[in-house]
Amino acid sequence: MYKGFINLNYKPSANDLVCSFIIEPNNISMEEAANAVAGESSVGTWTNVVTMSDRIKKMGAVVFSIEGNNVKIAYPHELFEPGNMPQILSSIAGNIFGMKIVKSLRLEDVRWSSSLIKSFRGPMFGIKGIREVTKVEKRPLCGTIVKPKLGLSDKDHAKVAYQAWVGDIDIVKDDENLSSQSFNKFEKRIVETLKMRNKAEREEGERKMYMPNITAPFNEMMRRAEFLVENNADYAMVDILTVGWSALQELREANEDLKLILHAHRAGHAALTRNPKHGISMLVLADIARLIGVDQLHIGTVVGKMEGGKEEVIRIGEEIESKIVEQKGNKLSENWKSIKPVMAVCSGGLHPGMVPSLVKNLGNDIVIQAGGGIHGHRNGTTAGAKALRQAVEATMQGVDLREFAEKHKELKTALDQWGYI
Ligand code: 3PG
Ligand code: 3PG
Ligand code: MG
Repeated sequence: MYKGFINLNYKPSANDLVCSFIIEPNNISMEEAANAVAGESSVGTWTNVVTMSDRIKKMGAVVFSIEGNNVKIAYPHELFEPGNMPQILSSIAGNIFGMKIVKSLRLEDVRWSSSLIKSFRGPMFGIKGIREVTKVEKRPLCGTIVKPKLGLSDKDHAKVAYQAWVGDIDIVKDDENLSSQSFNKFEKRIVETLKMRNKAEREEGERKMYMPNITAPFNEMMRRAEFLVENNADYAMVDILTVGWSALQELREANEDLKLILHAHRAGHAALTRNPKHGISMLVLADIARLIGVDQLHIGTVVGKMEGGKEEVIRIGEEIESKIVEQKGNKLSENWKSIKPVMAVCSGGLHPGMVPSLVKNLGNDIVIQAGGGIHGHRNGTTAGAKALRQAVEATMQGVDLREFAEKHKELKTALDQWGYI
């Protein structure tokens, strides 16, 4: 059996990686379960092996805190290959989720060691870089997702994007499941949509952004990223969970030359994050995405159509922007100085009436994206886009939306249609 992985007097060193788990033992004691989690995720297995040595025993993970179902485990740095996220996760988020000795297991939080943090590139642009490129200095960025999700032709997609841009939207993005289907081929869509972006920029005198979804098998994804650069796109969007961490790392590596702002969509995250007793928290996934180096990340909305509680979303928002996490209570300090802050993206079921509460909860450094909440506007996409931007302007001026709507008819219609929270 797994033995010898508990030492409640152990004080983690700055170089240890520390994981906070929630463990539900399966008809065994918490000590046995914690030993097994620490053992299996480091150097142990179900029985003693004659190949074990004293040197290797010292590399074992250490359970140093057990409070109810909350268990903290410190991992010595030798267990990890710096800069190899898949390897790190195969340890701390690998076999252990499937062991019979736990009913459920949740990786709630990770305190990354300074040496591992430094082994990743982090975002190329981060919040500051995005604000420089978009030339939007203080307010939240306004975005939309072309809807319907799937089915529009390349030309119609570009037309809807144009209608949103001339309605004062900064960013238009593809949906998570649009790539290069028969009705809308990637290359054609990019060329058509960027043509419309240029036209909108000329007419509006504002920078306009397009975030094309390059999600695909690795080589094809890279080819599409290069195509974006050749066609003067500023952004690339990628579904980070479905392409996988290895592909994301390679994309970030190549981005040293490509220099695209990377927008990370988290489609599928809830398969890991949603069950509060099992899986991996969104907070941990957000840290991983930031370390690897995405510039924008979907974090939830609190108020929209997707699950994700207020405290959780606010905490993720704070964490992806912070440089140093101070040692507080029993939270260990963490130094992210070498990694730029990520811009949080709020998306999923949003409409103009939700803007004030999004800004109140998450601040100005966010992208607010609405799909249905723009293209569902009674008077069409341009009016819907204007209503969102008006809601942002009102919020920045500290004016109540209803009052602002008296002089802004698009916002008024949106508030009548969907309400105001
Ligand atoms: C999320 O997970 O953040 C969204 O609900 C989906 O985002 P999308 O608007 O970019 O598709
Ligand atoms: C999603 O897929 O969740 C969206 O792209 C967001 O769309 P919505 O604003 O219509 O919910
Ligand atoms: Mg979507």
